[in-house]
Amino acid sequence: MPGLQDVTRGRLLYGGDYNPEQWPPHVWPDDVRLMREAGVNLVTVGVFSWAALQPAPDRFTFDWLDTVLGLLHDGGIGVALATPTASPPPWLGHRHPDTLPEGPDGIRRLYGSRNQYCPCAPAYRRAALAITEAVAARYAHHPALRLWHIGNEYGTACHCGHCAERFRGWLRGRYGDLDGLNAAWGTAVWSQRYGDWAEVLPPRRVQYVINPSQDLDYQRFCDAMLLECFTAERDAVRAHNPAVPVTTNFMDFYRHTDGWRWAAAEDLVSLDTYPDPNDPLAAMRAAMSKDLMRSLGGGRPWLLAEQSPGAASWRPVATPIRPGLNRLWSMQAVARGADGVLHFQWRASRQGAERGHGAMLPHAGADSRVHREIRALGAELAGLSEVVGATVPSDVAFVLDWDAWRAVELEHQPHDGFRYTDRVLEYYAPLWRDNVTCDFAPADGPLSRYRLVVVPNLYQVGPAAAANLAGYVTAGGTLVVGPFSGVTDPDERVYTGGWPGPWQDLLGVRVEEHWPLPDGELLDVVSDTLGDFTATMWAEWTVSRGADPVATVRGGPLHDRPVVLRNGHGAGTAWYVATLPSPDAMRRLLRRICAEAGVAPVLPDLPPDVEAVRRGGLLFLLHHDTGKVEIRREGNRDPAPD
Ligand code: GAL
Repeated sequence: MPGLQDVTRGRLLYGGDYNPEQWPPHVWPDDVRLMREAGVNLVTVGVFSWAALQPAPDRFTFDWLDTVLGLLHDGGIGVALATPTASPPPWLGHRHPDTLPEGPDGIRRLYGSRNQYCPCAPAYRRAALAITEAVAARYAHHPALRLWHIGNEYGTACHCGHCAERFRGWLRGRYGDLDGLNAAWGTAVWSQRYGDWAEVLPPRRVQYVINPSQDLDYQRFCDAMLLECFTAERDAVRAHNPAVPVTTNFMDFYRHTDGWRWAAAEDLVSLDTYPDPNDPLAAMRAAMSKDLMRSLGGGRPWLLAEQSPGAASWRPVATPIRPGLNRLWSMQAVARGADGVLHFQWRASRQGAERGHGAMLPHAGADSRVHREIRALGAELAGLSEVVGATVPSDVAFVLDWDAWRAVELEHQPHDGFRYTDRVLEYYAPLWRDNVTCDFAPADGPLSRYRLVVVPNLYQVGPAAAANLAGYVTAGGTLVVGPFSGVTDPDERVYTGGWPGPWQDLLGVRVEEHWPLPDGELLDVVSDTLGDFTATMWAEWTVSRGADPVATVRGGPLHDRPVVLRNGHGAGTAWYVATLPSPDAMRRLLRRICAEAGVAPVLPDLPPDVEAVRRGGLLFLLHHDTGKVEIRREGNRDPAPD
């Protein structure tokens, strides 16, 4: 199977999106010269070129792309060639209005922007496949071609008649018949029983809250339809040359596409990430995304497909990246497993919606602070070839589950501010600050190689995942489970008899009531071993069923209820945390859990804001603050690199 190693060929990749169709041909040779001088060795071409390649349904214009690919190849620059299907040309929407996506309100989104397609519209599918076929037939064996980049940032949703029809078929496949559907969706509630498939609809705009199982299934269905679009294009390009690897670009933590399923469908994982330079947690959030990408690819190297060397023009306040920050974030990607650093985009657009976006070659030109940094980074990455292909060791896995994520954020949950990624970040943050490297893992995947498994939240859990995590602890693992977990089954049916439904034995606790707290209310918690602390947003009426209470509520209606519990189970240990402890308390708690589980930081006792990651034989030390820090290390007492 082809992979990133076929693209890197032993060197870190460096470059960005290149949109030559926005520029007159005399600029192109200059681009290639400047790219070479900057150390660029891979550019992504054609992402938004559909109209330039097929200006009318029956006319293809490849001459300009022939020239561009030829120039790049002559300049020794490889190409990630896109299938341009993320942004259909106006002629498609004009001739086939049914290819334009409909919102839940029934209103069509028109052309004039991008991403205006319905993933289920047969005319869109046909046209997307036709342009993909044409591009693949022409370039699949081009010597500059290193990688296929399918579509772009899949995420478009539609609620039209085509989608309704496909949704019914998808539901038939899942539930068999209408009785199955009615049972799974609980349509006995509010007189929603369906007697004919034609009555079944996408969750369009309704009078009051939508059926949650219908909502959740539609999210699953939309994901499946986008994946079908991707797979069709992937298969089309593979048919022309199976040796060229295929990817599509993910977006950090993105609820709409299930990263585990998508990553399994591509040859390598790639990420678009735009940390906000005004966010004090930007470095931590970025580290988390990068760890996720490495994990989605099963620990293999991944590709940073887009980041901005300047402002991201879609931000309400588009502050540029301060000097040195693009380098720092690039090194963070490499440290956390990336074998390439690409940007959006090479040359800044003069027109269009992204005319204010940062670029490797900004509007100011090559004689600019940003471009000088780009050149310096290119030179530096060229000297880091020893890291190419190396892995990043980790003893900790975070369980990440897209169904549980979608379900916990459905309407009418006990606290509408309860966000899945916030819960993940609360556990990730103290570990990141302590330089403990973390992977992510699916709930039903192999876990035995980890010393610690963290489940910040798993509101919805099915039998396979429940058994997998219990088996991990029984065999000697350490598990920590966060609040509001084990509440519903995959049909969004509430477990009865107390929570966490399938895990009361494992965790040694029974939850009778979920107890969200109003904004601003602090829960007072006492603990002999962790020290007293406060918690916010969430608490639970727990009853220990054998677990040792480690921290207990003081005062109020939950007085004496344990909110941190530790339970020996089989050969392992399971912790349940029924609230959201303050960041300091989380740090103390996770330090204790790590110490018990034998999880060690990459380097202990580093100054604040210094991130340490080991990759292969290299130790990366990244300082996220501006001043100077000094780190002294004695001798070479590192464990042997893996
Ligand atoms: C991404 C997209 C790029 C560009 C970039 C700007 O979403 O893939 O084409 O629009 O954002 O930040």
